[in-house]
Amino acid sequence: MRVPSQLTRREFARAAAMSSLGAGLAIAGISSGWARKPKNTPEKSRVDGPLSLKTHAAAAGLLAGCAVVPELFDLTPASNDPYTHTVAQQASILVAENAMKWSSLRPSPTTYEFSNVDRLFGFAQLNGQQIRGHNLCWHEQLPAWFASTATKENAHSLLTQHIFNVAGRYAGRVHSWDVVNEAIHVPDGRSDGLRKSPWLGLIGPEYVEIAFATAAQADSKARLTYNDYDIELDTPEQSAKRGQVLMLIRRLHARGIPIHAVGIQSHLQANGPRAGAGLQSFIRDVATLGLEVYITELDINTHALPGSPEVQDSAVADVYRQYLGLLLPEPNVRAVLTWGISDAHTWLNQSKQLWTVRPDGARQRPLPFDENYTPTAAFFAMRDAFDAGRHLVKSSAI
Ligand code: G3I
Repeated sequence: MRVPSQLTRREFARAAAMSSLGAGLAIAGISSGWARKPKNTPEKSRVDGPLSLKTHAAAAGLLAGCAVVPELFDLTPASNDPYTHTVAQQASILVAENAMKWSSLRPSPTTYEFSNVDRLFGFAQLNGQQIRGHNLCWHEQLPAWFASTATKENAHSLLTQHIFNVAGRYAGRVHSWDVVNEAIHVPDGRSDGLRKSPWLGLIGPEYVEIAFATAAQADSKARLTYNDYDIELDTPEQSAKRGQVLMLIRRLHARGIPIHAVGIQSHLQANGPRAGAGLQSFIRDVATLGLEVYITELDINTHALPGSPEVQDSAVADVYRQYLGLLLPEPNVRAVLTWGISDAHTWLNQSKQLWTVRPDGARQRPLPFDENYTPTAAFFAMRDAFDAGRHLVKSSAI
């Protein structure tokens, strides 16, 4: 597959022409080049268009989407590339898995590299998709130059300039920004629950407020989101972390800091405990503050699940079914994004950690499409969960 580094003007014009042609032909029931399906098996053909995740989610008033790698999009008009096709067909909202992080955007303290993000926006525009921004302030994936360049004197300006330049560039075109990512870490022992991150050390606890207030100035349209992981379950550790996240959000809200949503990452385990009443009551507490909730990074880790691919698929689908069944009835839950679309590209098969590598050496199958872009049992569990939420159509903001 060709992996172009950016969308050229000519490619964009050709793709745009094919896209609008595609829309017209689709109305006439004819498949165009851009909308052309890869060679379809019966499995594949029953999940496009009206049968897609995005269409079923829309009927329930939800956005459905996934994390993407913009370099993988094949933008040639007649492309049959399954990655490009599946993302275009299934998602109404996209998030960059890595392309909008500091390490991707900031090759040096004074320069920005936007080409992959521009490519993502071009692709989303062609396909009528919204975009989540991930992320503006995180303790991970800071560029190599950061440690030797950032000081207590310049950190405030580094953070605010980054937010102005990045969120400002795409202002008005972003559904929601993960303004601050993963700021709570209870084991660090602080009473406010904040993680001992570079930002905390350089700026102090007010860095969270500074990030949100700056993001609001840079883009007054995007819903400003706090995003975190390990807040889904009712284990003592996750309950404690969820409690600290809620306190942080309440503090921000009480001080009039602009915050509109909470992202629950939802990296779940196939054979771990299930989410339950604690998460439900957290979502309701968040609703009383007028905030939306997005499921931002859903996938199911099967590293500790013995058995065949079929056993994995069935356990993964069970977790999708139970989890979405629990969360989607909550009226402030507005979007469901998986962390990737197909098992061919998942961080769970890239990361070589004790908690990602299976003892039998088999690859994980955490997503709604397998490595051949055939829908898995998880796809149908998701679609059924969207259908079950149809009677709850969430048409207006809370
Ligand atoms: O791009 C470089 C490549 O040039 C280099 O040769 C290669 C060598 O290791 O590394 C490549 O970068 C990797 C990057 O993913 C792209 O594949 C980084 O090492 C690797 O650390 C990075 O991992 C990402 C991780 O965040 C850290 O940023 C994962 O893909 C991504 O899925 C993961 O996403 C996070 C969310 O942002 C926040 N929530 C948790 C989630 C999963 O960890």
